[in-house]
Amino acid sequence: MKYIVTGGAGFIGSHIVDALIKKGYKVLIIDNMVTGKKENINPKAEFYKLDIFNENDIEYLFKGVDGIFHTAALARIQPSFEDPDLYFKANTVGTRNVLVCAKKYGVKRVVYSASSSAYGDTVIPTLEDEKIVSQSLHPYGSTKRMGEMLMSDLGIMTGGPETVCLRYFNVYGPRQTTETDGAYPTVIGLFLGLLKKKKSLTIVPDGHQRRDFTWVGDVVNANILAMESKKVGKAEIINIGSGENYSIWNIARLVLELPEKTSEKELLESGKCVFAPQRRGEVRETLANIFKAKKFLGWQPKMKFKNGIKELLKK
Ligand SMILES: NC(=O)c1ccc[n+]([C@@H]2O[C@H](COP(=O)([O-])OP(=O)(O)OC[C@H]3O[C@@H](n4cnc5c(N)ncnc54)[C@H](O)[C@@H]3O)[C@@H](O)[C@H]2O)c1
Repeated sequence: MKYIVTGGAGFIGSHIVDALIKKGYKVLIIDNMVTGKKENINPKAEFYKLDIFNENDIEYLFKGVDGIFHTAALARIQPSFEDPDLYFKANTVGTRNVLVCAKKYGVKRVVYSASSSAYGDTVIPTLEDEKIVSQSLHPYGSTKRMGEMLMSDLGIMTGGPETVCLRYFNVYGPRQTTETDGAYPTVIGLFLGLLKKKKSLTIVPDGHQRRDFTWVGDVVNANILAMESKKVGKAEIINIGSGENYSIWNIARLVLELPEKTSEKELLESGKCVFAPQRRGEVRETLANIFKAKKFLGWQPKMKFKNGIKELLKK
């Protein structure tokens, strides 16, 4: 089998590449390295430093390919407010280009890395058919939602490839960015980065917002099952989360390896945690209903959150 992984030098994409190589498959990576890292690139994969925004540059690579794991995207909320057009080009036009090239060369299936951020503030726990209120989104969430629509419009409905959309809930694991300046890491990466620098963990805004976290290895399994399952292919939208959620304070205690009973007051007074200003576009709570993933993919998360954090602290 021959697969393309777009964004294969990024956090999630590089883990998908590693799993495919381990299975003995041929893998082509398309990545423009805007956030991808050289050290993530599996040396057994063919690497092409190209931008999915440029259809003509990438098209020839799709010949003879069996499937595509489409993970390439600008993947952070905050910078999407600064330059929404850049997000539109990479995430929406880029996704369109991947689908058009896949159709041209008869690629069987595209598995799309969608995002739970498409829900905005919504009903908890969240089912896939929950109504999306576009006003509650941010440019990043909108472009990820548009990508799902393209998976439908340019998929088998109009003679294109089979498609599946996996809506990930906060993915964490090795290789996630832990840079604390400018790279907009998600909370676990940020806390690990601050810990390494012996700095206080920053709590935004009151720390009581809750997130559903998914281990990257579980996300990889979901991708492989989505590529292989006979029950999907018609642009289904499937939540990939753990079905449990944790507050920011919970995470701080776990990362600091402190007992669950450590109070917020103690954390603040000891200087281990400090408050930081609210950021735009952050929802109060995320929690996936993962029934559909179990039913259609036979998938369920294997990594327990506390064990996942322990793994990361060992590194
Ligand atoms: N990390 C999460 O918690 C999370 C949650 C939901 C959805 N997602 C989605 O999963 C996917 C992967 O996210 P990630 O966290 O691994 O991010 P990442 O930034 O580590 O990886 C994205 C990769 O895509 C590449 N890329 C970006 N624009 C490109 C372009 N125009 N052409 C070619 N390559 C390009 C980057 O260089 C990078 O290597 C994204 O589609 C993201 O929207 C991630």
